[in-house]
Amino acid sequence: MDSIVVTGNGPLTGQIAIAGAKNACLTLMPATLLTDEPLTLTNAPRLSDIRTMAELLQSLGAEVSMLQDGQVLALSSHEITNHTADYDIVRKMRASILVLGPMLAREGHAVVSLPGGCAIGARPVDLHLRALEALGAELDLRDGYVHARAPGGLKGGEVAFPVVSVGATENALMAATLAKGTTVIRNAAREPEIADLARSLRAMGARIEGEGTSEITIEGVERLGGATHRVVMDRIELGTYMLAPAVCGGEVAFPGARPELLQAFVDKLRETGVEVQDTGTGLTVRRGEARVRPVDVVTEPFPGFPTDLQAQMMALLCTADGVSVLEERIFENRFMHAPELARMGAQIDVQGGTATVTGVERLRGAPVMATDLRASVSLILAALAAEGETTVNRVYHLDRGYERVEEKLRGVGARIERVSQP
Ligand code: EPZ
Repeated sequence: MDSIVVTGNGPLTGQIAIAGAKNACLTLMPATLLTDEPLTLTNAPRLSDIRTMAELLQSLGAEVSMLQDGQVLALSSHEITNHTADYDIVRKMRASILVLGPMLAREGHAVVSLPGGCAIGARPVDLHLRALEALGAELDLRDGYVHARAPGGLKGGEVAFPVVSVGATENALMAATLAKGTTVIRNAAREPEIADLARSLRAMGARIEGEGTSEITIEGVERLGGATHRVVMDRIELGTYMLAPAVCGGEVAFPGARPELLQAFVDKLRETGVEVQDTGTGLTVRRGEARVRPVDVVTEPFPGFPTDLQAQMMALLCTADGVSVLEERIFENRFMHAPELARMGAQIDVQGGTATVTGVERLRGAPVMATDLRASVSLILAALAAEGETTVNRVYHLDRGYERVEEKLRGVGARIERVSQP
């Protein structure tokens, strides 16, 4: 298993290129199952999760080619030859559940393993299943699999989510494009990745209105065609790297970045005293010598502060000049980075879904362990500004969501290297 070794090395300067969004790509790829024509995705990120989704789609009979070093994905499911998404692939990545809606909509039947939980929570899929039942699906849960059928095809209907769910909104949206009649999704997730999916589905011939708001209306069509779609920028990777100059000081530019992708995060970062400038062609983040100010953070569905940036923000607040309170409202167990940050000298008191961080002057390097994707990168951020050397172990978590993290950070002056363990 690889480790990453980081040595605190002062201010960062330069610019970082941000890749296409993992969480957009993971829902854009299964959309290929909705059509027998080719779907091409450009600006795709080079991540292990993308390769896992490709492997899953290929197991169903789709063709997936990774071109231009993985930045272009050519997908085509001319014929779905296998209608079962096996546990051994699904357990590696929860987003696998996103093949259920498209496969059911196109084929009238699908068998998908229940994903199981993960480090940050139980991660049930009940909202996905209720949404598909609202479109006429007959579901049977047995031996760890969802057996879904829609004899005569799905029918448009009302999908009212009791709580906002990104994945369930995506499954319902994709399924509804081929359902007979009109579907209205209420309390839909508003994440930019959903708007990106809707843009791609519309290019394929779907009739969708309201994406990005809480109410999405879909007029079902007979069939969808192919399309070429550019994956939207990854707002979580962007926010993560914006925190690098924030924790270390210096000035880093992010070409092409737009604040509206993560406005709540930008506002909160500015509240700490870090400068975020919208240059019109991107964002530039600057921070001087003074310690950052403490702030309180509450994670919410978009457009609120993203749960996927909570761990990274905590890394900054560990050295703020005062006490910050972070409330995690989306997942039940998303503070696993706290004890690892504490090994570096951070003072964090976790009580249920609330973490109280008392800022210290400076963290000290230490061996720490990555536990989940975003926790692992928060340890890297903390290490950039810490005194001495930090070794982050189990970085396979990192590679799921961040392409070439050590190259990107070395490019702005960080002392960071990957050590391959036998
Ligand atoms: C997506 O997960 C993202 N993953 C997550 O990013 C992200 O943290 C999350 O949305 C919230 O923004 C992908 O897009 C691949 P949810 P998803 O359904 O769709 C509960 C990362 O680090 N819930 O919006 O699984 C659920 O337990 C990952 O890139 C149900 O109760 O999240 C959670 O508490 C981590 N029943 C809340 O809703 C359901 O059927 C929000 O989950 C579904 C969800």
